Amino acid sequence: MRKPIIAGNWKMHKTRDESLQFIYSVNEQVPSIDEVDSVICAPFVFLRSLVKRQGENLRIGAQNMHFSENGAFTGEVSPTMLKSIGVTYVIIGHSERRAMYNETDETVNKKLISAFNHGLNPILCVGENLEQREQGLTEEVIGNQLRINLHGLTFNNIENLVIAYEPIWAIGTGKTATSDVAEETCKFIRNTVAELFNEEVAQKMRIQYGGSVKLNNIDELLAQPNIDGALIGGASLDPHDFIKFTYAALKK
Ligand code: 13P
Repeated sequence: MRKPIIAGNWKMHKTRDESLQFIYSVNEQVPSIDEVDSVICAPFVFLRSLVKRQGENLRIGAQNMHFSENGAFTGEVSPTMLKSIGVTYVIIGHSERRAMYNETDETVNKKLISAFNHGLNPILCVGENLEQREQGLTEEVIGNQLRINLHGLTFNNIENLVIAYEPIWAIGTGKTATSDVAEETCKFIRNTVAELFNEEVAQKMRIQYGGSVKLNNIDELLAQPNIDGALIGGASLDPHDFIKFTYAALKK
């Protein structure tokens, strides 16, 4: 019932030539958008050229945005700008931005509301760090993130929201959460959203797992009932692997 969504988060990788080569390789190769949403979240500087060349089954996303439409915010990019160049997705609240660029739950909330108001599809990242997991605080931490991050969103927003559960200890470490651990937390996320909003919209909302997703673990992750896709960092940089990830989602 929920369409799977595979998103590559390139982070700060690739040159212009590399980004174009990637798009030419994957464009006609990913499954129909009727069956899988395939999204590449690229650095700002490449977004326009990628949008111009995107095939009909591929969508381009940004990795961040400011919540304001314009203003004296040197170095920032607004939702209006993203929209004006044809970007359709935006990652909000990635743990690297929360940890390194002082993004708080409150700014994440403002960005989410702004993304929806501008017709962009946000991918909200939540997740605990290793210490929090080891202390048994995972649900408390993620529950708090969700309560603040989703404050003021409408039922319609929630239906269209994608949440990426990204345990910080699994990002770029080669340590994937087992599919059971990932499912347990994704189920908790869905239940929490059902409590905060209602069961119907929580069932429509899509949840991705992210953190050292590779070709050898994607199948078991996607086999879990509450995991509707993946947000993939390092392993999404190779075009042939990215295509394989999208086909793994087709089996769901
Ligand atoms: P890796 O797949 O490289 O662990 O990165 C995950 C991630 O942070 C995606 O947003």
